[in-house]
Amino acid sequence: MKTLKIAAAISAALALSAHAQDAQIDRKVTELMKQMTVTEKVGQLHQLSGRQFTGPTSSAYADKLADIRAGKVGSMLNVTGVADTREIQALALQSRLKIPLLFSLDVIHGYKTVFPVPLGEAASWDMDAIELSAHVAAKEAAAAGIHWTFAPMVDIARDPRWGRVMEGAGEDTYLGSQIATARVHGFQGKKLGATDSVMATAKHFAAYGAAIAGRDYNAVDMSEQQLYEVYLPPFKAAADAGAATFMNSFNTLNGVPATGNAFLQRDILKGAWKYKGFVVSDWGSVREMVPHGYAADLSDAAVKAINAGSDMDMEGYAYSQHLEAAVKAGKVKMPVLDEAVRRVLTKKFELGLFDDPYRYSDAAREKAVLGDASHRAAALDVAQKSIVLLKNEGKLLPLSRETKRIAVIGPLADSQRDLEGGWVVQGERAKVVSIVDGIRSHAGKAEISYAQACAPGCASSEGFADAVATAARSDVIVLAVGETWDMSGEAKSRTDITLPGQQEALFNALKATGKPIVVVMLAGRPLVFNTIADKADAIIYAWFPGSEGGNAVANVLFGDYNPSGKLPITFPRSVGQIPVSYAQYNTGRPVTDEKNVTYRSAYIDSVNTPRYAFGHGLSYTDFKYSGLALSSATMAGAQKVTLSFDLANSGKVEGTEIVQLYLRDMVSSVVRPVKELKGFQKVHLKPGQTQRVSFTIDRDTLSFFNRQLKWGAEAGEFKLMVGSASDDIRLESALQLTQ
Ligand code: BGC
Repeated sequence: MKTLKIAAAISAALALSAHAQDAQIDRKVTELMKQMTVTEKVGQLHQLSGRQFTGPTSSAYADKLADIRAGKVGSMLNVTGVADTREIQALALQSRLKIPLLFSLDVIHGYKTVFPVPLGEAASWDMDAIELSAHVAAKEAAAAGIHWTFAPMVDIARDPRWGRVMEGAGEDTYLGSQIATARVHGFQGKKLGATDSVMATAKHFAAYGAAIAGRDYNAVDMSEQQLYEVYLPPFKAAADAGAATFMNSFNTLNGVPATGNAFLQRDILKGAWKYKGFVVSDWGSVREMVPHGYAADLSDAAVKAINAGSDMDMEGYAYSQHLEAAVKAGKVKMPVLDEAVRRVLTKKFELGLFDDPYRYSDAAREKAVLGDASHRAAALDVAQKSIVLLKNEGKLLPLSRETKRIAVIGPLADSQRDLEGGWVVQGERAKVVSIVDGIRSHAGKAEISYAQACAPGCASSEGFADAVATAARSDVIVLAVGETWDMSGEAKSRTDITLPGQQEALFNALKATGKPIVVVMLAGRPLVFNTIADKADAIIYAWFPGSEGGNAVANVLFGDYNPSGKLPITFPRSVGQIPVSYAQYNTGRPVTDEKNVTYRSAYIDSVNTPRYAFGHGLSYTDFKYSGLALSSATMAGAQKVTLSFDLANSGKVEGTEIVQLYLRDMVSSVVRPVKELKGFQKVHLKPGQTQRVSFTIDRDTLSFFNRQLKWGAEAGEFKLMVGSASDDIRLESALQLTQ
């Protein structure tokens, strides 16, 4: 009791001191703003890119430096490393008020140590590993002068044609929200201002992932129901986790560009969610409101963006060129400008930059942190956890230790660049472990022969004969194919998501040898590969696994690591099925029998089911589910119900199962998806071991947004489903909500 009281007193004191600190920062910001001219205020909202660009820019570098000296720039992106950030910060300190710059960068999946691409990490369903990955990335970036990363991307993405599916957590709102929280915590640590953390950015607010036809930057048109139910929750989770900043997006949402969207930025984010951080535009998205047809010219764009709640203009030059005049003309009220400036300055104080503008730019720390060997271990751990075993016919995997000759073939087998994926900043390419090198160092006595067959992209089949000859002399073929690193990411939408070039022909040529084939697939998105899915003996999906990719793949191939990854996004059979998600709505004519689909909601040339469903992923062991029980079959008010069952490892090796809880609200005022993920757990079991697994179901679990967009649960029957994948439900039960 006494300890409880002490703990309560300590936490109250901490809350008070946090409150006191906020008030103190608030006073400092007020004092500073009193001294600022309108030009200097506008300067704080102007963000410029350094020497490396990630988008079109329009100002000479020398002009940028002059503007920094004049106090007309608040933040720089794409300036990295202690030496460069120091040099540029020194210019800002020559300005009249000596307000330090914020240095920002797209640290998306690692800084020097490259982690798997975010979609790959999402397949781990492992919040600790994901948080650690973001933390290591933050630590390295913060040691190299960076204060702020433009990550995590928390856009729900259900269209694999969109290249940016690679940067997010996939299609699911529940999983995506958990991952958003983990990533924000990982980047930011416990408190802003620690020099092993950076500010996070929840992007791209909002609904960017729903670009029509999967074409990047395209318009978005969706019901508010969908927006609230599917696309906003990961942003809310990021805000709740304390994300210091938000980035808006290139798309229009129901006719209004996100950058000029007061409904999103003022009503929802800063209004309903009471968000205290600041919003940065996406690259040039303020000026892009002109071609959108929403702003008449750059000046109009500046007015519309800031009034709608966009605080900082990234490489748009709309604020720097027009905001001051707009304020003088009364088109932007002083309190609107002041609010934006206050939000930005508050973060600079929280980071401690006014105490020491160079505190993130310490050469000794940069050297020590960037050389920290433990970071590679973290990268290996999450890369292994990200790998998904899609198929394992006849239990070909793990490869037997008795295997004598292994042929490693394929355009991506010896690639280092492709293993890194897109958005790599300072990755040490020469130290990336390629797949063939990983296999060589794990293969023991087996003889490894390698043939590339064709260069990445696989435009030519000239090398196929040599590869086939190499394969014919082996006992098993490991074929590494997929997309090249630059085929997914920003501006990398594809209408055809099959394997590029002649890779399928290569597979067929190798298959003709009669040797067993393990396919290792690398990609930043779900690909369509029906022939391989039908004919390969085993398939592992490794995404772009990062610096330790080859070791991770080899550990899985030889069974030193038992794969446990599960797909965070549906793999279609064809582009024609897109959009396809497990959380679909039933129709009045659902398919109940695939053999008889006439006048059903179906296709005449394809089944409805995807190639691999959301949540799918195999293991080298087997798991049995049994004994489902509910603590009560009915529920009322704020009551909670516990669902539990036995999970047993019935195979021969230890392994981890990601158990998934889905539910369906059977009848409601707005029809509900046939399945919605509501919980998951990673359970590690030894062979023969059984564990009782339980989930708590509360009112929130059963709630949804009704027609009035009010969150709540409606009385009636709910179907609860537990399984190994969204299409592999093992146990079911019904729960009645009585009031
Ligand atoms: C992307 C953002 C990125 C920004 C800065 C834009 O083109 O959409 O995600 O953070 O560039 O590099």
